[in-house]
Amino acid sequence: MKERLQQLQQDALSALQQAANLSMLQDVRVKILGKKGLLTEVMKGMRDLSTEQRPVIGALINNLKDRFEKTFVARQVELQQRDIAARLASEKIDVTLPGRKMASGSLHPVTLVTNEVVEIFSRLGFAVAEGPEIEEDFYNFEALNIPKDHPARDMQDTFYISDDRVLRTHTSPVQIRTMLKNNPPIRIIAPGTVYRRDSDITHSPMFHQIEGFLVDDQVTFGDLKGVLTHFLNEFFGKGHSVRFRPSFFPFTEPSAEVDIECVICGGKGCRVCGKTGWLEILGCGMIDPEVFKSVNYDVEKYSGFAFGMGLERIAMLKYGVNDLRLFFDNDLRFLKQF
Ligand code: DAH
Repeated sequence: MKERLQQLQQDALSALQQAANLSMLQDVRVKILGKKGLLTEVMKGMRDLSTEQRPVIGALINNLKDRFEKTFVARQVELQQRDIAARLASEKIDVTLPGRKMASGSLHPVTLVTNEVVEIFSRLGFAVAEGPEIEEDFYNFEALNIPKDHPARDMQDTFYISDDRVLRTHTSPVQIRTMLKNNPPIRIIAPGTVYRRDSDITHSPMFHQIEGFLVDDQVTFGDLKGVLTHFLNEFFGKGHSVRFRPSFFPFTEPSAEVDIECVICGGKGCRVCGKTGWLEILGCGMIDPEVFKSVNYDVEKYSGFAFGMGLERIAMLKYGVNDLRLFFDNDLRFLKQF
């Protein structure tokens, strides 16, 4: 029995050493110490031992168990550490590798220009207002002193949705909506999408305008000139001459168009300014009393000015873009430049 135990101990310890992984190690334990294990088998012979032999063999068995246990734990730690080392090696990240670049978007040039115009007017105390793109005839025309059958309706080729609904042809209806909801003093800037039946190199059926207007007591044409000249200096940079040219709009009286000395050729005359040296930027004027009447403002008490401009147009001039359609093609090679 003593020899069998010694043999078993030798076999068991070497089996532990040879176990290639944790589950094999567990198998060895069951095979030796388990209920049907080899040690249990050998221990069955204990009954046949004499009283003198029993403690000797008992001590041997305890010694075997003890050494088995110690070897088991040591081998277990060894195998666990090997597993951790393997995982660390396989999951290693090289933090010195160069990063992968994320493609980042950029703002559309029309958005950039809109933000800039809004910012300039915000600094002068103007607040942003908006209106619907599907607009009632009343706001788009009637209240702006453009009655049905008025020749001025021909100035704008309108998309009609029904007899009294249109896709708004300009941002001017925001004037009416704002004045009906608020009392003076009012200072508003209103960017938005507008629609006209028009399509060529310089016209798109959908484009953007920004409207501005101010109502208070004792507003003068001088205020209008001051505000717009300041705006053009901020937007295009100082040093370009600005001129106000008499014009006509049904909703302003007097009306003017504002030109800036060509920002491309500096006024010498080029293709962009049509050799005139001037660029037409916006329409403006003193709000017509007829408009005030349609929103029930006291025309004796209040006066105001208004202006409107095309955002694609000023974006083209600012960024030197020569074809309006580029803004709507969504070609990334174009859009990424801004
Ligand atoms: N609504 C005009 C247009 O679309 C632009 C305009 C001109 C707006 C004069 C105004 C203004 O507010 O006073 O052509």
